[in-house]
Amino acid sequence: MKSVMNLDRTRLGIIGLGYVGLPLAVEFGKKLPTIGFDTNKQRIEQLNTGIDLTREVESELLSEATHLSFTTDLDALRDCNVYIVTVPTPIDEQHCPDLTPLLKASETLGKVIAQGDIVIYESTVYPGATEEDCIPVIERVSGLTYNTDFFAGYSPERINPGDKEHRVTNIKKVTSGSTPEIAEFVDRLYSKVITAGTFQASSIRVAEAAKVIENTQRDVNIALINELAIIFNRLNIDTEEVLEAAGTKWNFLPFRPGLVGGHCIGVDPYYLTHKAQQAGYHPEVILSGRRINDGMGAYVAGQLIKQMIKQRIHVQGARVLILGLTFKENCPDLRNTRVVDIIKELEDYSITMDVYDPLASKDEAVQEYGIRPVDKPGKGSYDAIILAVGHREFCDLGAQQLRAWGKPIHVLYDLKYALPRGEADLRL
Ligand SMILES: NC(=O)c1ccc[n+]([C@@H]2O[C@H](COP(=O)([O-])OP(=O)(O)OC[C@H]3O[C@@H](n4cnc5c(N)ncnc54)[C@H](O)[C@@H]3O)[C@@H](O)[C@H]2O)c1
Repeated sequence: MKSVMNLDRTRLGIIGLGYVGLPLAVEFGKKLPTIGFDTNKQRIEQLNTGIDLTREVESELLSEATHLSFTTDLDALRDCNVYIVTVPTPIDEQHCPDLTPLLKASETLGKVIAQGDIVIYESTVYPGATEEDCIPVIERVSGLTYNTDFFAGYSPERINPGDKEHRVTNIKKVTSGSTPEIAEFVDRLYSKVITAGTFQASSIRVAEAAKVIENTQRDVNIALINELAIIFNRLNIDTEEVLEAAGTKWNFLPFRPGLVGGHCIGVDPYYLTHKAQQAGYHPEVILSGRRINDGMGAYVAGQLIKQMIKQRIHVQGARVLILGLTFKENCPDLRNTRVVDIIKELEDYSITMDVYDPLASKDEAVQEYGIRPVDKPGKGSYDAIILAVGHREFCDLGAQQLRAWGKPIHVLYDLKYALPRGEADLRL
């Protein structure tokens, strides 16, 4: 059976319109008939009125995608012949991959897929997930046979939410396909929208592995720098000064210490370690990196307490202002934010906290974490202020304005190296 191999006849269906799916749908929707499908009715309603709560796509850019429509209706997908899956790939409480959204999306596709169609997965997974976990679901539901009746591709996404410089079109894209011809087609398809160029991997498994190690490498590198920061704090050496000095060597990598949250860097390595364990290998470096990074919230809380004691601030009953709740700067994404680890730890000291984050949705913060961010912090109210997330508007305030929220004696803790050296009382 031949598949659609003609770009001019391509009708795209994009499954999952979040941080990854929407920007992609908009780019394709400028060039090809594209249907954006999501199970979240509210999200589709908002997109239909030009609102993207992820802040990745401005209203006017949405309207530039003249061939794009949004739907929750499965039947609307039936006319498509190439599908791209961009649904979440979270982990469960035991840090095991939770493939539920991916398998559900595959079931959906099984109901609409026709002879010759191609399904391209973009979600971050472990090597083998596409062909061992997802494709069998499509085969079971559709009754079609893989690589005879329908075909697959995998092309991982590398976007960085909140980053206005690295956008979907100007990041080089890895592509792959289930046969050499399909790989070629998938590559040509993405080349239509990706101006930075594409890289055709030799197989779907190679492309899957490439994505998961990009994030694993970053996680392990940050873990190393976090461990170094812990060591240097004990030695009374400023970590940033050390990193600056070491960074003058041509091959020293410029990582900074910090919390590692979100649904990518702090999650994806567990996909790889899960697969490694299935294959009988217990990863040492990757998992110890995860443990260090997961422990940073508690470490930060401990550092703050020590500094408060040093400045003779009474810890029990103290009021602390946490600036930022999202998992990263300039982005409203609250998923898997590790700021909550600091909050939990400080609660154990009977400290009360106000969280201030103008980017975060208050309702989502309550729903996800039981935390209601304040509208505005009170002037002169806090025994300590933690700059936890480097939102532009916090950094722009500068130390003096940040300190205006503090009591006459307070600790200003700069987790993000956002302030010039010497302006905070404490840095990570
Ligand atoms: N956000 C990032 O920075 C980023 C970067 C690179 C890769 N990724 C990967 O891309 C994938 C998607 O991430 P995201 O951040 O866009 O997630 P997201 O949560 O922002 O969006 C996922 C969307 O999929 C929808 N959805 C869930 N199940 C569905 C189903 N069965 N059918 C249709 N729609 C469904 C949700 O309603 C949501 O709108 C993940 O695997 C993630 O690891 C994310």
